[in-house]
Amino acid sequence: MCGIIGYVGSENAVPIIVEGLKKLEYRGYDSAGIAIYGTDGFNVVKQKGRLAALESRLDGCPIAGTMGIGHTRWATHGEPSDINSHPHVGSQSKIAVVHNGIIENYKQLKLRLERKGIPFASQTDSEVIAQLAEYYYNGDLLDTVIRVSGALEGSYALGIMCLDEPDTLIAVKKDNPLIIGVSDHGHFIASDVPAVLKHTNKVYYLNDKEIAVLQKGCVQFFNLDKEPLQKQLETITWSFDSAEKGGYPHFMLKEIMEQPKVLKDTIQSAINNGDNKKVIDNLDITRFNKIVITACGSAYNAGVVAKYVFERLCRILVEVELASEFRYKDAIIDEKTLVILISQSGETADTIAAMREAKVKGAVTLSIVNVVGSTIAKEADFCIYTAAGPEIAVATTKAFSAQLVLLYILAVGFAVKLGKISGEQEQELLSQIAALPAKLSALLTQVDMIQKYASTCVGYKSIFFIGRNIDYAIALEGSLKLKEISYIHSEAYAGGELKHGTISLIEENTLVVAISNCKQLFGKIMSNVEQVISRGAKVLLIGNCLDVEQNDKLSSISLPESNELFSPSLSVIVLQLFSYYVAANKGLDIDKPRNLAKSVTVE
Ligand code: F6R
Repeated sequence: MCGIIGYVGSENAVPIIVEGLKKLEYRGYDSAGIAIYGTDGFNVVKQKGRLAALESRLDGCPIAGTMGIGHTRWATHGEPSDINSHPHVGSQSKIAVVHNGIIENYKQLKLRLERKGIPFASQTDSEVIAQLAEYYYNGDLLDTVIRVSGALEGSYALGIMCLDEPDTLIAVKKDNPLIIGVSDHGHFIASDVPAVLKHTNKVYYLNDKEIAVLQKGCVQFFNLDKEPLQKQLETITWSFDSAEKGGYPHFMLKEIMEQPKVLKDTIQSAINNGDNKKVIDNLDITRFNKIVITACGSAYNAGVVAKYVFERLCRILVEVELASEFRYKDAIIDEKTLVILISQSGETADTIAAMREAKVKGAVTLSIVNVVGSTIAKEADFCIYTAAGPEIAVATTKAFSAQLVLLYILAVGFAVKLGKISGEQEQELLSQIAALPAKLSALLTQVDMIQKYASTCVGYKSIFFIGRNIDYAIALEGSLKLKEISYIHSEAYAGGELKHGTISLIEENTLVVAISNCKQLFGKIMSNVEQVISRGAKVLLIGNCLDVEQNDKLSSISLPESNELFSPSLSVIVLQLFSYYVAANKGLDIDKPRNLAKSVTVE
C-alpha cells in the first residue's frame, strides 16, 4: 500500500520524483525516499515521516541526475523508520529498488542470502528484492528482473535501477498497480496516474508479470520468458488540475464541492448513449436469481444503500458482503448469481480476491470502478465507471456519491428488464436521478451553516448515527466518515436496535445524528430521538420530511425533497461536510488521516 514512481529522461529527476510522490502520498505516509542515479553511484535520501520531511532533507543536500526512483511508504514489515524506508539498495550498492506490495516468502529468501554472507540493513520484506537482484545480477538487468520475479511470492510493483546500466529503469508488477507514462522529455513508472499527469496523459497499463524496460528514448515490454510484447498506449481524460487542490484548504473539501459535476457526468455516462449505458444494456439480469454486492469500507456502505434500492425496485434478493469476509466464507453462489464489486481504486486486495473467488464459482461479475484500467475494472466480466476523476483525499466522498448514482441507474434498468416497473415509471425515476446534481448544488450552499454547527461538536467523546431502512444504510457512511478523519468514536445503528443495547451508551456529552428521509418511518425515528434526548444526548436531525421545533437539545438540517430511495445522495453531503468541519476544527490532517491509506492493496 505504498506509492512508487520512477523517471528516466533528459530532465533532472529529483523535482519530478518529489512532485510525483506528492500525488502518491495518499497511498502511505509513514516515510518517503528517493534514489537518484548520480555520477558517483546512487544518491539515496530517505526520511521517516511525511514527504515534507524528505523535502527538507533534500533542501540541505542537493542531488541531481536524469534517472531515479521514489517511494512513499505505508509500513507493513518493519516499523516506520529511516532505515526501513525505500528505496532499498543492495549491500554492494549496485541495485536500487522501490517496492509496493508484500513479499510473502521474504524470510526464506533472506535466510538463504544471509547464509551466503549477505548482510541486511532493514527489517523490511522489500530489501530482499534488492539483495536478491544483486546476487543474481549477471550483467543484464532484464535477465535479473526475470529471475527475481520467478523467486518472489506475494504481490509487488517494482522500480529497479542498476549501477552498471546508467540509462535503464525496469518495472515489473504482480497484483499491485503500475502504469508507464510516456512524455516528450522522458518516461515514467508510477503507482497511479495523477503522479505523471503534469507531464503526460499518455500511459500504458502494465499487466501482471509484464516487464517494462524504460530508457531515455524508448519503452519496451516483455513477458517473463523475455518475449517482446506489444501494448496499447492509452490517453487519460483526467486533467492535471483535477489532481490539484485548486485553492481549497484540503482535497476532501474540493472533492465534496465537485460532487454536482461528478454526478452529472456519471449520470450522463449511464443514460442516453454513454459508455456505461451500453454495458448495462448488455447485462441480462433475467439470468440471475440473486445479486451479491461485495466491497470494503465506504464502497461497502454504497452496497448497503443499493440493497434497499434493488430490493425495492427489482424485487430480487440482494446480499451485501464485506469483501474480506466474502473471500473466505465459501459463498453460496453460482452462475445464477450476479456479483457486483464496488471499488474506487479498483485495486483493493480484498475486493480483488472476492472477485476472483466469485469467478471461480461461476458467478458473473460486474464492477463499479473509478480508476480506469485498474485490476478490478479489467478482470470483471462487466465494468462500469464512475466519472469522479482522481480522488486524492484518503476519505472518499465524490467517488462514493458517483457509486450511488450508478447503482440507482442500474437498479432502475434491472427493474425494467425484470418487468417490475413500467416504461413510464422508469422515465420518472431517471428524471428524479437526473435532478440530483442540482439538488446537491443547492445543498452545498448551506455549507456555512453546517460548518457553524460542526464547530460546536469537536468536544464530543462519542457520536452515534441512527436511521431506519435506507437512512440506516447512509448512517453507516456518516459514521465511517466522521471517525476516520476526526478520530471521534462513532457507531451507526438501525434506529430500532437502540433499545437492544446501544441505548446504554447514551449519556450527557453524546451526540446522536438521526437521519430521516423515509416518510412512513418519521414517527419511529422521532421516538428514537425522544428516547436519546431524555437520556442526556443532543440530536442533530437530517432529512427531507422534517416537521420539528428546534431547541437546545435538538437541531435539524433540511434536505431538498426527493424520492427516499435516492435521498442517501443528499444526506451524505451533509454528513461529509459535518465530518470535514469537525476534523478541520480539531486541526487534523484531513486528507491523510493517521494509519490509513487510500488504496488498500494488502490484506
Ligand atoms: C473511507 C474509504 C475507504 C474505502 C475502502 C475501499 O472513506 O475511503 O473505506 O472506501 O478502502 O476502497 P476502494 O473503493 O478503493 O476499493
